[in-house]
Amino acid sequence: MGASQGRITVPSLGRASAKGRCAGSRRSVSRGLTGPPCRTNSCTTSYQYTTGTTPKRPEETHAWLQAVLADPETHMWAIYLADDPSVIGALEFGMPTPGLGSIHYALGRSHWGAGLMTEAVDAVCRWATNTLPSLREITTSVAAANVRSARVLEKCGFQRVGSAFEVWERHASPIELHVYRREA
Ligand SMILES: CC(C)(COP(=O)(O)OP(=O)(O)OC[C@H]1O[C@@H](n2cnc3c(N)ncnc32)[C@H](O)[C@@H]1OP(=O)(O)O)[C@@H](O)C(=O)NCCC(=O)NCCS
Repeated sequence: MGASQGRITVPSLGRASAKGRCAGSRRSVSRGLTGPPCRTNSCTTSYQYTTGTTPKRPEETHAWLQAVLADPETHMWAIYLADDPSVIGALEFGMPTPGLGSIHYALGRSHWGAGLMTEAVDAVCRWATNTLPSLREITTSVAAANVRSARVLEKCGFQRVGSAFEVWERHASPIELHVYRREA
């Protein structure tokens, strides 16, 4: 894959790079694990609406990455701006149940609202459709209050198919989730 002329690049990480790479709608470049490490200040993300926690030290990030990359059912991508070597976000795609994919993502706060994650999520979904023959559908859950994320999914062709409540460690009360689905 050639050098990017577009707005973002979405190189796959680790195992995923052996299986295929996903290209943003404006073309992408592959860096894989040879890409520069994530700088904490450019990767700071609001985890208010996720079950994730913000790593405080590089070792925590490395441990998390190692665990994710060791899982054969999980594919990871980093997001870069085309003209900047700093990681600004990430996406994770898994297929824990045969035929049923799931997607999770986060973007550095200073990059919100520019349509970047819509572009990245759509690219990963298209990669999954084209690369995983057994995939039938992709589902994900979004905190009901996370209107930005819901909008990203809707713009990527997901439809809301239900609701659920889940207990999250850092919240006193159960969180209402909206469940979204997109056919592969
Ligand atoms: C959710 C997240 C990935 C969105 O990324 P993003 O690049 O800002 O998303 P986009 O710019 O592609 O799209 C955001 C949409 O939400 C809309 N939006 C933003 N604020 C909004 C608000 N308060 N109410 C309603 N819509 C809103 C935007 O207008 C845009 O829609 P539009 O293109 O129709 O105008 C980002 O906010 C993030 O990383 N959040 C923290 C982690 C997280 O919540 N991950 C998802 C867990 S399910």
